[in-house]
Formats: sequence, C-alpha cells, structure tokens
Amino acid sequence: MLFRQLFDRETATFTYVLADEQTREAVIIDPVSHQLERDLKYLKELDLDLRYCLETHVHADHVTSSGPLSLWTGALIGVSKAAEVACADLALVEGDRLAFGRYPLRVLATPGHTHTCLSYVLDDRMVFTGDALLIRGTGRTDFQSGDAALLYRNITEKLFSLGDDVLVYPGHDYRGFSCSTIGEEKRNNPRVSGKSEGAFVAIMDRLALPAPNHIDEALSGNMACGLNAGVAVPDPNALEVDGAWLRAHQSKVRIIDVRNAEEFWGELGHIPGAELLPAEGLQQASGAMPKHRAMVMVCRSGRRGLAATKAMRAQGFSRVWSLRGGMTAWRDVANQTKPVMS
Ligand SMILES: [Fe+2]
Repeated sequence: MLFRQLFDRETATFTYVLADEQTREAVIIDPVSHQLERDLKYLKELDLDLRYCLETHVHADHVTSSGPLSLWTGALIGVSKAAEVACADLALVEGDRLAFGRYPLRVLATPGHTHTCLSYVLDDRMVFTGDALLIRGTGRTDFQSGDAALLYRNITEKLFSLGDDVLVYPGHDYRGFSCSTIGEEKRNNPRVSGKSEGAFVAIMDRLALPAPNHIDEALSGNMACGLNAGVAVPDPNALEVDGAWLRAHQSKVRIIDVRNAEEFWGELGHIPGAELLPAEGLQQASGAMPKHRAMVMVCRSGRRGLAATKAMRAQGFSRVWSLRGGMTAWRDVANQTKPVMS
C-alpha cells in the first residue's frame, strides 16, 4: 500500500493519502483548502485515482479542500452523518466500510471533541483518529457540542480496544510527533493513561484554551465542503479550455496529446508532462483510464482534441476538455508569459 503523511505548517494539520499501488485507487483524509494546489499536483505526480475525500470531523481551525478536490477528481466526499453537511456524498456512520483497491477502511464513531468525529481504521493496522486522540494528548471539548465524558469513553472503550500495535495517525501535531501506537498512548497519554473519567473531565474543564482564530469562517467553509471560496475547475458543460487556463493549472490536470509522434517531437513541441496518445489509439487506451480525473486533450489546432473530447465524454469521461486552438494557441500563451523565477 502507498501511504503518505502530509503536513500543513500553518494549522499543524496532517493530511493522509492512502492508495492501492496496483489499482492506483486512493483516499485522502482531512485535506486542507490552502494546500489544494500541492495535493492535486501530488496526486497527479503519483498517478492516483482519488476515490474518496474523507473528513474526521467538521474542523474549526481550517477549511477543507474536499469540495474542490472532488470537482477535480470525481472523488466522493465522506463526512459524519451527524454533521449534516449537504455537499457531502456520503453521510458516514459507525460500521460503514469504504474500499480503495484491495484495502478496506472501517468507520468508527468517536465523538467527544465534536459531535461529528469519526476515526478510520485500516485493516486493523492503522487508525486515523482526527482530533479524538492526539499523540500524548486529545482534542479539546469546549465547543462544537464537545463532551469530555463521551470523548473519554470513546478513547478508552473504542480506540483502546484496537490492538496495541495499531498505528495511530492523528489530525494534528503541535509538538513534533507524527505517529504513535494504541499501546503507546494507553501507557503514556497524560490525559487518559491511568485516569478515571472524572479525572479526565476535570483536566478538560481546566484547560481554558482561547477560541481558534477564524472559527466562524472555518465552520461555514467546512459546511460548504470548501466550495464557497470559488473553484477553478471549468464548467463541466464546456468542451474547451483556453491556453491561459491550462498554463495556470497544468501541474494538476492530466494532459493528453492526441497528435502523432512526429508532431509531438516536431517544431511546435509539446507541453511539459503531456502524454503522447495519438487519436487512433485513444479509444482502446481509454478503457484503462480513470473516468473522473480532470484531463485536457491537445492537438495542433484544436480540432482533433475537440473530437477526442467529444468521444471521451460520450464514453462517460466527465472531466475532459480540449485545449482551444491547440499547440498553436499554447505557443502564443507561452510566448506572452514571462518565466517565473523560483
Ligand atoms: Fe478539530
């Protein structure tokens, strides 16, 4: 299995990418809105077919990118049923099972930090605990219908009943940790190890933490799946995108060049990262391509690309567009755009 732990420094949030290396089907857990570019580029680089964007809860400290990710990739958005998020595709409850390729994820309801908290258990090997159980800590319980006694019971009765060797991957870290185990937290978590429910509640009552910055914006953004800030994905009814758009988003979309090899390597060149797949072979190759990933078809003048786009749409590819004006227009845009120094 492919497993990656990504980190957002600004909000100390972990985002996880899990994938079946054979089928390329992938899941992302707790994606962060201002890391959308990073994550889309990363998914493209790893050639992953994102099937699910899962939330461990409705976050108060950052906005999710599940909505935009879903528009780019066709992934389904999964959030706790208790959250009543209208833009979610899946209203998840305990016992639900999701699969990516050969790997199953089991949903465990672990409310207490918020009433919407879920944990995701992978194969009894790993658990993604969100803010219910942090490494040597727990999420706070003083807003979003938090309930310290309920959190204590969910940690000690549900999460701690997973095997001691199960790896714990939390939603945040503020102290430099990245991973723990259930056994390690049972023994060393200062809030719960050797503590009664009453003692835990007393600790949580005494925390007196300041409210997170921008909590109202975060909550309203998350209830809209991060879609209220506007999205750069083209209109699904349009058949074409222009060169400026493609230039701005080329790291995120799959670019298929439908010309022949001679043209691809010829005078007009090709777009960096474009895959050469001449129009004649496209029909056959498309059988093995994920149906929902954003793709742009490129040819010399835009005609073959448009024909390929229409053919792909007819086969059920919902996020495919043609580069208007083809490589000729691309060259003009490239000439107008000054190179970005990095
Ligand atoms: Fe949280």
